[in-house]
Amino acid sequence: MMKNILVPVDGSEGSDRAVAEAIAMAEVCEAKLNFLYVANINQLAINACLSDAILEAVTKAGNVILDRAMEMVPSGIEKEAFSETGSPAVVILDFASSNDIDLIIMGSRGLGIVKGVLLGSVSQYIVEQAKCPVLVVK
Ligand SMILES: Nc1ncnc2c1ncn2[C@@H]1O[C@H](COP(=O)(O)OP(=O)(O)OP(=O)(O)O)[C@@H](O)[C@H]1O
Ligand SMILES: [Mg+2]
Repeated sequence: MMKNILVPVDGSEGSDRAVAEAIAMAEVCEAKLNFLYVANINQLAINACLSDAILEAVTKAGNVILDRAMEMVPSGIEKEAFSETGSPAVVILDFASSNDIDLIIMGSRGLGIVKGVLLGSVSQYIVEQAKCPVLVVK
């Protein structure tokens, strides 16, 4: 049974569609929704030296994204928000295996600027490496 669902969110349209789909699934399965935002320090480290101010700004942006997802969930559905730092694909996989996740629901694409490709690097990695079922929302 799908009782514990992980929804990785990055604030993109694709991730919003995944949240909507996850809510519908949680209603049917009476599952808990776990929203996870990963502050991508790899990308930041390339752009600038990793200062506390930058990290704080990214974490704040993540909290806005998580709050928005949490507010979409109707009362009666169990939900929790998590914020982590690191490489999104790796952190999402680690989270799934250490938190007894039955199903991952995510967007096919995110905030990346390259269009016309079905999967982004994060969704591709998760589909290939996850030990549990993955629902990729288009
Ligand atoms: N930093 C993140 N934290 C949590 N979930 C994420 C993060 N980045 C992506 N995701 C999840 O992965 C889905 C696909 O995004 P992905 O990053 O693979 O595509 P992209 O941004 O279009 O491509 P790329 O990042 O490779 O340029 C998103 O809809 C979201 O569900
Ligand atoms: Mg991305």
